Amino acid sequence: MRLLTLAFPILLGSSHVLSTPTQRPFAATAAYEQDRPHLIGPNDSRKLDDEAIIDWVPAPPQGMKLYPLHISGKEDERVNLMFFADGYTFDEEAKFVHDATKLKDDIVSPKGAMFHVAHLLNIWATFVPSNISGIGTQSTSLPGAAFGLYRPGAELRGVYVERKRKARAACTYFREESDEGGCDQPILLGNDPLYGGLGGEFTVITASKLNGPLVLRHELGHSLIPVGEEYEGGFAYFGANSDTIDRVNDLKWKDFLTNSDEVRVEDAKVPLQFYPWHDLDNSSYVISFNSTNTSKGQYPTALLRASLSSIPFASHISITLNGNSLDLSDGFPSAWKGSKDRRWLEVPLERGLSEGESTVKVELTKKGRKEVAGQGGKMITSLEIVEYGGEGRFNQTEGFVGAFPTYAMDGSVTLRPTNEACLMRKVNHPTFCPVCAHALKTSLEGRIVKKRGGL
Ligand SMILES: *[C@@H]1O[C@H](CO)[C@@H](O)[C@H](O)[C@H]1NC(C)=O
Ligand SMILES: *[C@@H]1O[C@H](CO)[C@@H](O)[C@H](O)[C@H]1NC(C)=O
Ligand SMILES: *[C@@H]1O[C@H](CO)[C@@H](O)[C@H](O)[C@H]1NC(C)=O
Ligand SMILES: *[C@@H]1O[C@H](CO)[C@@H](O)[C@H](O)[C@H]1NC(C)=O
Ligand SMILES: *[C@@H]1O[C@H](CO)[C@@H](O)[C@H](O)[C@H]1NC(C)=O
Ligand SMILES: *[C@@H]1O[C@H](CO)[C@@H](O)[C@H](O)[C@H]1NC(C)=O
Repeated sequence: MRLLTLAFPILLGSSHVLSTPTQRPFAATAAYEQDRPHLIGPNDSRKLDDEAIIDWVPAPPQGMKLYPLHISGKEDERVNLMFFADGYTFDEEAKFVHDATKLKDDIVSPKGAMFHVAHLLNIWATFVPSNISGIGTQSTSLPGAAFGLYRPGAELRGVYVERKRKARAACTYFREESDEGGCDQPILLGNDPLYGGLGGEFTVITASKLNGPLVLRHELGHSLIPVGEEYEGGFAYFGANSDTIDRVNDLKWKDFLTNSDEVRVEDAKVPLQFYPWHDLDNSSYVISFNSTNTSKGQYPTALLRASLSSIPFASHISITLNGNSLDLSDGFPSAWKGSKDRRWLEVPLERGLSEGESTVKVELTKKGRKEVAGQGGKMITSLEIVEYGGEGRFNQTEGFVGAFPTYAMDGSVTLRPTNEACLMRKVNHPTFCPVCAHALKTSLEGRIVKKRGGL
């Protein structure tokens, strides 16, 4: 394995400033026309568009500047990931290379989610200047932005691409024309310090120090493996990490099972799962739900999982369950202290839920109300409770591969291989489960065979 990983800064000579033709005939982009459902973020009602009728692609942006970040082999024998800059001004070229390099390190460094396939990947970055620093909000991209990234509202949620054809052209240029660089998977990196992104043809992420790597890994899981979600409340469950209950005795991942002779569906229930996106400056948030019938104590333990935005300190928020205040310190580790970025928290409920109705109340404390709101407002963005079966009906042991139920938005259930061992379920988990990790390798190898002109 030849691993050539270039460290920042790499200042390339002017020969790397690529000049490009002004207009080119339509390139074969059929495979790219299809937008996958939004894998994170809201439903885009501005669904495109004129794209179906175009018969040409515009020229790629002028003056693109290419930086090799991780080169393990020749372009046509590797899957090439390409970061493109959006919302970085001329003066922010070094910041772009720095941001992209950090993200590259996150995925292919020894502890990274894709270290085991680093030898199958090349990672590049292309700087394209934008006129204004940052990305748009309220469905409006910034004037003079390279690819026009924007948030549909103010919330720390999805980030969309206005100038899709420009982005497609830039990627096609590196895939089909340029002698240097490659682009099998474009990643549009928005110069914004907070959470946001989207999967699909373009992996869209932001330069959020805390969340950028999380979104990158998760979205690359969707586009490179490709697999669907493992978290509850979604609608896209497919691929190597998903199977139906009736197939519990012949699971796609049967070779990975810890106990392959007696496979059971682990017993967990999800009595509450919701994406409130509720602004706590407006009002507190209260929701009641019924626990799974616990009169026999079938579900002795539970977990509350939530995400928040613009809540910099644990002392700014209170979450109670039936009036008992919960310890939120898990969501406020020192590295995330003071940040108004989106954050993730889990509170084990060691004594489970009581029988019947329970109520969760989320509110700002006095300190929280005084704090100036960050981008998107002080929000409870998601909330879920999972109840675990007792008497050996749910295996919590880390590393256990079995059949765990995942509850979709419409209440239907599919199975996943691990409890919490995959970043497709828990975005702040650093790695894929063994099933996804293996599927990633197989998928990349397959793509390389295809590129070489094989099947
Ligand atoms: C997205 O929004 C459109 C228009 O409001 C609606 O018809 C469609 O069902 C929505 N899709 C999903 C997956 O929610
Ligand atoms: C961006 O800046 C360039 C150079 O200053 C200028 O020619 C162009 O009109 C600007 N574009 C927009 C949309 O503001
Ligand atoms: C805040 O409350 C007002 C009035 O009830 C409502 O119209 C608005 O949508 C709320 N905003 C958010 C972000 O919840
Ligand atoms: C809980 O269950 C009771 C009895 O079935 C029902 O009356 C009540 O509306 C339920 N509460 C919620 C929040 O669903
Ligand atoms: C809970 O389970 C017990 C025993 O199976 C049953 O008698 C009771 O009616 C159930 N309660 C509800 C609210 O379903
Ligand atoms: C629970 O997981 C552990 C660790 O993988 C395993 O050794 C054990 O056999 C599992 N128990 C059951 C009942 O599946």
